Amino acid sequence: MKLKHFAGAMMLALIPFVAFANGAAEPVTDEPAGDATRGADAYDESCAVCHASPSVILRGVPGDDPETRAEWLDLFLTDHYAPDDERRQDIIAWLMAQRS
Ligand code: HEC
Repeated sequence: MKLKHFAGAMMLALIPFVAFANGAAEPVTDEPAGDATRGADAYDESCAVCHASPSVILRGVPGDDPETRAEWLDLFLTDHYAPDDERRQDIIAWLMAQRS
């Protein structure tokens, strides 16, 4: 293979990888910030029936810093009663404000 062709092949091979890396590495902070006030209502409607106290479930959320915990919540809640993106961000914003 000529060097020119090899370089071209390398470029083509990298395109899907770069596209995938961009999508996969999208940080949580790029998402629209949740509204904690709306989140309080959403929690009452969707979660309080099973989780009377947010402090109990927050103890079960892994992570040492708020970003990691919010990211874990984002993944977990997608399959746990908060599939709607905006509503989920609102609930997370409210939950994260309950910690102090
Ligand atoms: C029908 C009952 C029910 C509803 C509604 C519900 N949960 Fe849960 N949730 C559970 C149960 C049971 C567990 C523990 C088992 C598990 O991990 O799935 C749990 C676990 C969790 C956990 C993991 C931490 C832990 O204590 O295990 C979080 C965080 C959580 N729920 C948040 C929420 C939020 C936020 C909502 C509303 C969007 C919600 N849940 C709605 C029943 C419910």
